[in-house]
Amino acid sequence: MSDSIFFRTSRAERDTAAMRDVEGTSDAVIPLALHRAQIDMAKAAGREAGAMPRPAPAQVQAPAQVQAPAQVQAPAQVQASAQVQASVPVADMPAFAEMPTAPAPSPAPAPIPAIASVQVADQTPAPLAADPALRSRGRLYLVSRSRGGVGATTFAVNLALGLCRTAQKSARRVAIVDLDLQFGTVGSSLDLADKGGLLALAQLDHEPDVHAIRAALQSHDSGLSVLPAPRHPVPLDALDALRVRSIIDALLSSHDAVVVDLPPALVDWLEPLLHRAERLFMVTDLAVTSIDCAKRILDTFREDAPDLRVEIIVGREKKPLFAGKVHREIATVLDQPLRHWLPFDPKRARLALDRGEPLLKMLPHGAWSRGIRKIVGGLE
Ligand SMILES: Nc1ncnc2c1ncn2[C@@H]1O[C@H](COP(=O)(O)OP(=O)(O)O)[C@@H](O)[C@H]1O
Ligand SMILES: [Mg+2]
Repeated sequence: MSDSIFFRTSRAERDTAAMRDVEGTSDAVIPLALHRAQIDMAKAAGREAGAMPRPAPAQVQAPAQVQAPAQVQAPAQVQASAQVQASVPVADMPAFAEMPTAPAPSPAPAPIPAIASVQVADQTPAPLAADPALRSRGRLYLVSRSRGGVGATTFAVNLALGLCRTAQKSARRVAIVDLDLQFGTVGSSLDLADKGGLLALAQLDHEPDVHAIRAALQSHDSGLSVLPAPRHPVPLDALDALRVRSIIDALLSSHDAVVVDLPPALVDWLEPLLHRAERLFMVTDLAVTSIDCAKRILDTFREDAPDLRVEIIVGREKKPLFAGKVHREIATVLDQPLRHWLPFDPKRARLALDRGEPLLKMLPHGAWSRGIRKIVGGLE
């Protein structure tokens, strides 16, 4: 049963899930349409009220509102959500199927709409940025990937932990945010069950304030602050640029470093992140198809943020003694040297996931962890 979902989730969550299964009310599968409807209902309710209420902390910490099985199964609820959908302008509600879900792998992809088309600064006043108490003191590190399964989340989690531990003996505040909204695994890698913080922030009809954002964070034993991805997939447009900017600015004001595990899709709300990033790590293997996707992603990012500093992390491969011709060619294509390599270690990587314990903690002296420490050292 080592690959059972229960093996990888926290003990508390396993117990709760087991109880629900016994009672025959497991909420393991909830239709996507309902998540979309719940988010839209929350936003529409805010619009109708015409108010911009400050979020009560209880709201942030009450994922039950979203996850309650009874809500999912109640036909009246479904009807209500249909009414809300009918009353919301179509432009506000792109169909789920129309949303980007992954970097287009086809050889001749349709042009990706420029992320810059979202003029974040022009849309509304910026309450968080305007607050002098929230001046940024932290550094933002983004983690992207050329293809699924290459080790980006593993890298992001261990990078965050590494940044925590280079505390030069003094406590260093580090947060990790999982913006892979649909299939994020930062929480489960750390044996943390999502408490609904990010979903609650997405449901607000206004920019979340600093109190709501801090209340949404979960603590990990290591000292990391974690904002896990929603437990159930939500549409990518559950977030928007203003909201993402608010979340990141609030976290940067109270942490020394913030690591963001990016979604595989190119969405407009990445723009504020690209502009604030100290560095973007592109995790990739060296297959032609992966390099092709990495290039497309980096080209799109650089179009919006020409000054973005990029580092390539070659995942699942040991650094060769000498760079070959193919390595030089890849470095030219990506416009970056292949400086960092993380060796292939499937058994230990798997064990770390199953234990919910980052590799850096489980095997601090292994080659993989040494690679992480070197990268972290280069950021000091
Ligand atoms: N260096 C590595 N060697 C072998 N397997 C790895 C390595 N890094 C990660 N993995 C495994 O690869 C799988 C995908 O890792 P993950 O970090 O979730 O990738 P991504 O975020 O790029 O989709 C996981 O099972 C993980 O344990
Ligand atoms: Mg991932």
